[in-house]
Amino acid sequence: MRKLVLAISLLALGASVAQADVVTDRQALMKERGRLVGALSKVVKGQEPFDGAAVMAALKALEANAEKTDVAVLFPAGTDKGDTEASPKIWEDMDGFKAAEDKYLEATKAASSAAPADVDALKAQVGAIGASCGACHQSFRLKKG
Ligand code: HEC
Repeated sequence: MRKLVLAISLLALGASVAQADVVTDRQALMKERGRLVGALSKVVKGQEPFDGAAVMAALKALEANAEKTDVAVLFPAGTDKGDTEASPKIWEDMDGFKAAEDKYLEATKAASSAAPADVDALKAQVGAIGASCGACHQSFRLKKG
């Protein structure tokens, strides 16, 4: 009996470690999004020079990041607890959440498939990408923005 109890509590421990990992993984992907969009915003604001190759690399990295973001794997039920800003609304409206991520993926694909010729073109693309970040955060992240 004691062995069984131990086995069950080890299982529970394993589950909470796995949940913490998944939260860390999704936050790492989000942080990378923040870094990449931040770098592109500097170019849009004229704080960094427009370098077509660097811009394209950042847009491709945003697309790859979005492709890697598997909502079903990274947002399993029960991971609205602990050190996370994920809103419980994600699990109340998983279809809506997936649709928001799909829309975001499409925006990154559109941007990386049309190399921006200049800062104005980049501005439009970063604007479209940023709008889908913000739309999802408004609905599904506790800390808005
Ligand atoms: C489909 C929804 C969705 C989209 C699209 C989205 N995010 Fe998020 N974002 C979230 C959720 C949910 C969290 C909270 C995750 C957590 O704490 O578990 C988050 C958290 C973050 C964080 C905080 C990460 C941390 O340190 O904990 C940053 C930064 C961020 N997002 C940036 C972005 C940027 C930039 C974009 C667009 C380029 C973006 N996000 C697009 C849903 C989204």
